[in-house]
Formats: sequence, structure tokens, C-alpha cells
Amino acid sequence: MHNYETIKSLFKERFDSTPTYEIRACGRINIIGEHTDYNLGYVLPAAIDKFIFFAGAANGLDHCRVYAADIDDYDIIPVTGEFQRSNKLWVNYLTGILDQYRRQGVSLAGLDVVFGGNLPLGSGMSSSAALETGFATLVKAAFEIDIEKPDIARLAQRSSHEFVGVPCGIMDQFASLMGREKQLVLLDCRSLEYEYIPCDLGQYEIVLINSKVSHDLSESAYEARVEECAEGVKVLQKFNPTIKSLRDASRALVLQHKDELGPIVFKRCLYVTSENERLLQVCQALRKREVEAVGPLLFETHAGLRDLYEVSCKEVDFLVEFAEGHPGVIGSRIMGGGFGGCSINLVDRSQTEGFIEAVKEAYSKAHAKEAEAYQVDIVDGTDLVKSIIYS
Ligand code: GLA
Repeated sequence: MHNYETIKSLFKERFDSTPTYEIRACGRINIIGEHTDYNLGYVLPAAIDKFIFFAGAANGLDHCRVYAADIDDYDIIPVTGEFQRSNKLWVNYLTGILDQYRRQGVSLAGLDVVFGGNLPLGSGMSSSAALETGFATLVKAAFEIDIEKPDIARLAQRSSHEFVGVPCGIMDQFASLMGREKQLVLLDCRSLEYEYIPCDLGQYEIVLINSKVSHDLSESAYEARVEECAEGVKVLQKFNPTIKSLRDASRALVLQHKDELGPIVFKRCLYVTSENERLLQVCQALRKREVEAVGPLLFETHAGLRDLYEVSCKEVDFLVEFAEGHPGVIGSRIMGGGFGGCSINLVDRSQTEGFIEAVKEAYSKAHAKEAEAYQVDIVDGTDLVKSIIYS
């Protein structure tokens, strides 16, 4: 667990100088709209107060020297010649960003970087997007690159696709950068138009429960889902040529072509089209401040992710079932790519303490693992810490 101060002093220790740039990069939550982004539908995420802090400075060398404080690992990334893939995932996330900037014509030079924070790795809060957006923001500052946040999000997504090999959607990078204090980002992943919706939850609050089952998006299951959805589009196009992504298909159309889609692709398409509809219902409820109406939709999403999309796991199923039976919890579901990570819960504030205690105890008995709970705040997205840079 690191904060600005520890990151800065690690920088001083390691490089014997003071960092020029300080960046705060955010993790994200997602209220609803899971696995809809690469299907060009809607998502409803927010940046949260789980951070990776970066300290950086130009080093006058032809390579970057990077220290990952959370995992106590150090590496060198040459900035001359072809960028090489590393066998370390975190290094590839950084190199991919440099590679994208260079493709845009930026002439790069060496940087010294230390980063670390309080954002748990591999827990569905998108530590990888925070790593990308934080580093991309640092490189932007160091080389005075003229690029806006939505374009940084696109650049980071391309880097994931092309360098890291993860065919992710744009939600994580966009939310990490474009998040705004106390607001949810309603993002249309087809047009990239977005709108802020106040996260006004009345007597309820968001509580994340980390199953501590670590997922890895590079695993083939995520890629398989992306392909199954593309397969669904191909089939549905035969009946309606205007369909370019599952975003263009309705639930009714999917139901109508169940046989042609085949059992697996049918389930995937049914989930995605239902999820887009649920998301719009959630937005409507939030706009009317009918928070109670949001809860059941979260449970429905969980059932869809578990039974149709098949990206849950027994540990998070346990957390969600337990939450469903606990007083004061009005909604719960697995959050993020799946196969582990956190559940997101809507909990009556007066019951939060009891819920956290009870769920942790039940989980450790059932799964011999210690769950962790986070009451997260919604904050402004990844940025340069301006007071330092302009002082
Ligand atoms: C991961 C990906 C996102 C998105 C979610 C599922 O977090 O990086 O693009 O697909 O899974 O909603």
C-alpha cells in the first residue's frame, strides 16, 4: 500500500533526484453494463478513490527505468529501436503506451518512473487501465503531447489490443480518465458520446467485496466471449443486414433466432442484449432518484453473467447470494471482466457495518479465503497533480 509520499521518497531513494511529474491514476467501478463495451453498447462506470500514484522525470538516457513499488519489481524499457515484449505483464502495459505514442510521431526519450498505490491488482477495479492511463498521462506531460483524455483512452485501448494482446473494450480506460467526482459516466461505446449522471444514492452506498480470486484478462475466456459475440453478429446479420454489433440487435431478435445462433452463442447474445436494456432502466431510475429500483436489476445482471455469459465463479456467486439474503443489501453482482475479483453491492448505510462483518465471516468459513471490503468514493479521473507541476 503506497501513497504519494512513499512513492516520492522511493523515487528519491532510487534515482537520487526529485520527481518532476506526479500523476494520480484511478481504478473504476461499473454500476451496470458489463461486457457491453466491446459490443458497442452502453456502460455506467465511475472513477474511484483507489489509486496508482506515479512519480516521474526525464533521465537524459535512451531508456526508461521503472520501479513497480507494489510488487517490488524493477525494469528497463529501451526507447530506441523496436519495442520488445517482456515476459512481465506490467512492463508490456507501459511499453505498449510508448509504442502507441511513437506511432503517433512522438519522439521519445528516457524517463525515470516509480509507481504504486492502494488499488488492488486483478480484482475487477481495473488496475491495468490505471497503469495505462497513469503512464500515458505521465508521458503526455513529459513530452508535452497535445492529446485530450478521450484520445488517451483510445490510445490505451489500442495498446492493450496491439501490444498486450487483450481485446478489451474502452470502458476501463475511459472511466479511469473521464470520471468525475460524485458522477457516473454514461458512455455510449459506439459513438463515445458520454453524459454524467449524478451518483445520488440517498440512504444507500456502494460497497465492494473482494473475493481475492484473481483474474487475468489475458486468459482466453475473455477473448472467447469477444469471438462468440462476433459470431452472433454474423448470424443475426443474415436476418437484418443493418446489424453491425450486438448493440444493434434487440433481445426479441435474439430470441427469434435461437436455433440459428446455436446454444452457446444464443446465451451470450441474450445476455448482452438484456444487459443493454437493463442499463437504460437503471439510468432512468437514477435520474428519478428511485434507487430501490436499481437493486433488482443488479441481481439480474449477476444471474445473466453467471448463467448466460458464464463469467462468474463460485466464490463471487457465494458473495452475491449471501448479500441477497442480508438485510439492507438491495443489489449485488460480480463486477468487471469476471472469473473473480469483486462484487459490487448497494447497501443501506445503516446496515453496512453489519453486512461487511457478516459477509467476511461467512466467506472465510465457506472458502478459506479472507474477503476485503471497500466503501469507495467517486472521484475525478486520472490526471497530473497540477499543484506540483505548476508550482
Ligand atoms: C474488462 C475489460 C472491459 C470490459 C469489462 C467487462 O474490465 O477491460 O473493457 O469489457 O471487462 O464489462
